[in-house]
Amino acid sequence: MIPSSFESAPFGRSAQDDREHVCIITLDNPPVNALSFVYCAKLLAEIEAAEVDESVSAVVITGANGLFTAGADVNDFNSEPLPETKTVRDVIAAIERARKTVVAAIDGNALGGGVELALACDYRIATPNAKLGLPEIRLGLLPGAGGTQRLPRLIGARPALEFMLKGSSISAERALELGIIDEITPAAELIERAMTTANGPKRRLSERNAIIAKELPAQAGPFVVAQAHKMVPAEAKGGLAAHKLIDAVQASVELPFNFGLAREARLFDELVRSKPSQALRHLFFAERELSKIPPSLSSRAESRDAAEPLPIELAGVVGAGTMGSGIAITFAQAGIPVVVVDNNDEAVDKARQTVMGMFMYQVQKGKLTQEEAWKRGQSIRFTDDWSELAEADVIVEAVFENLDVKREVFRKLDAIAKPQALLATNTSTLDIDALAQATKRPDKVLGLHFFVPANIMPLLEIVRGRETSAQTIATAFNLAKKLRKKGVLSGNAFGFIGNRMIFDYVREANALAEEGVTPARIDAAMREFGFPMGPFAMSDLSGLDIGLAVQKARGPEANGRTNVLERLVGMKRLGQKTMAGFFKYDKSVGKGREPIADPVVEQLFAEEARNAGIAPREASDDEIRERLLSALVDRGQKLLEEGIALRPGDIDIVYVYGYGFPPHHGGPMWYASTPGVILRSARSARLEGQKVPTHA
Ligand code: 3HC
Repeated sequence: MIPSSFESAPFGRSAQDDREHVCIITLDNPPVNALSFVYCAKLLAEIEAAEVDESVSAVVITGANGLFTAGADVNDFNSEPLPETKTVRDVIAAIERARKTVVAAIDGNALGGGVELALACDYRIATPNAKLGLPEIRLGLLPGAGGTQRLPRLIGARPALEFMLKGSSISAERALELGIIDEITPAAELIERAMTTANGPKRRLSERNAIIAKELPAQAGPFVVAQAHKMVPAEAKGGLAAHKLIDAVQASVELPFNFGLAREARLFDELVRSKPSQALRHLFFAERELSKIPPSLSSRAESRDAAEPLPIELAGVVGAGTMGSGIAITFAQAGIPVVVVDNNDEAVDKARQTVMGMFMYQVQKGKLTQEEAWKRGQSIRFTDDWSELAEADVIVEAVFENLDVKREVFRKLDAIAKPQALLATNTSTLDIDALAQATKRPDKVLGLHFFVPANIMPLLEIVRGRETSAQTIATAFNLAKKLRKKGVLSGNAFGFIGNRMIFDYVREANALAEEGVTPARIDAAMREFGFPMGPFAMSDLSGLDIGLAVQKARGPEANGRTNVLERLVGMKRLGQKTMAGFFKYDKSVGKGREPIADPVVEQLFAEEARNAGIAPREASDDEIRERLLSALVDRGQKLLEEGIALRPGDIDIVYVYGYGFPPHHGGPMWYASTPGVILRSARSARLEGQKVPTHA
């Protein structure tokens, strides 16, 4: 417990305790105690004041607002520091200069510069709830306040590299095992324990000096470093920060501490200015904007209270197919019990197997204990009795993609579900308003568009109909957070945000193939850009029959210039599932998932193009990328103009988390807006192509 004589003082520094002579400095910069330039100047003054104060024998640094600190303020990286600017590095240098013992007392999150600050202290005590992480890599950076030099000296180069390259947080228990912290103590005793340690028998631990003086075994360095370089993506494919981070750790092995620090600082400064880091920082903030919904979107005059999210304690799913079982697993994983209704015994048996198989797989991987897997399995109840949905707070239908079928389901659900329950559809194309009209609660009807496999893909499009209430939207965002999904709000339009844009992208890929560029080249160009697969392999994966059905549902404006898709479907080339689509597949090559170029398809494109009077033309890889990305961006722009997407950043999140857009390019809208990137309109490029005289 904090001694009762303590009072709060400016900038979180508490008055010094005469008995203990320990000065407590509390990081207090809501919401996340970010170590901004401005806050670092104050903190530095606090530390220096404690150092010169004769009555202070030792210092404890802790955090307010339920955490230690989220590290450096990411906003500051967009501005050049002035000579007088104070940063985490200055604060750490002051701790290092201090003659007094400094102990870090950590509760909640300690991230980035926060961990680096703690590493500079003499001793680190954490509560069982503490979480430590160096997530800089996720922002395209490396720990730039001494982390790459102190951590390898403290715990060894290999574990330090693993920890920093992953960027994920670890529990206090794991941090203790690794030697990052020195002890764990209950939260209620944290400050007292830190004070006793700072002032007690362990006083003047001077561990920081030991770390600095420590030399790492140089002979292990080159091997660890070489291995690490091999394991991360190439610099141009999103691995820039990883390679620089490894370089910094190499410096910790090879150079004296201060030289290593200087090297780290140089590498960090390079990364801060790099495009990939700017892109990842854009995504960081875009993600945090997602749930900020302008009040003007509310369909009716709702009070602020009405937008308070409703609790979701029980969920329902209609349909036990692939999508339905994936959604059920997602709820179970978030600790929300779920009732799955389906009248087809065969589908239910298969879904039961899928669910148990998934949880057992997680047990095998060591992610769940047998007991947890059993509990999760038990929290999904399959039934053919619709009345069991009566108590659900949200019901997601995942039945066959047909408006009449879904309307009927909504009518039925409206009669069964309790009045405050939300009714959601997982449709990827159908009109939410048409479904809402089948109910007497259109304000509680919305789209929850999960992506396949629903339990893995992090994206969730939250689709608002004309009458969807602000409270329903707020509840959906809350639910998305619980399900660990990135919820993105979309207006009600064919294909919403993601699929609407992908239609144009795939259409442009087809246009290029009609002009004589092979599907294999087009896919390779997009993989080179960083997509995990190209547009044709993606179409093969989702099924050409599905693609054709969607095209038909969109009406004549969606028709292509040729009949390649119709002909492939007519030939029963439906994609990966029939081992042939735009590519062919062979069980002995990449387990039947590796696309193999097929001259039959190339000839089909050529023949159809001749019939349509489309001239063949050369296209460089750059042009391929430019045309496909233009198609995405043009449509994204229209969705913004029509109000279907709220912000360019929302579209970027959809593309990065739902469609494999390389995060180091920041998403299509961010990429198109960066200096030096000029994307011509896809349509004008296609028209240019048509001007070339036809060879037919
Ligand atoms: N800098 C600036 N703002 C930050 C921030 C940071 N490091 N971390 C969080 N924020 C802001 C968010 O933008 C958000 O602002 P808003 O309310 O205006 O939208 C607010 O704090 C709350 O954040 P979340 O919505 O993310 O809150 P959660 O409670 O869900 O999560 C968190 C809290 C776990 C701390 C999470 O925000 C997080 O992971 N933050 C990033 C931490 C990070 O990357 N740190 C490394 C920084 S780089 C560094 O330290 C460099 C050093 O090596 C020199």
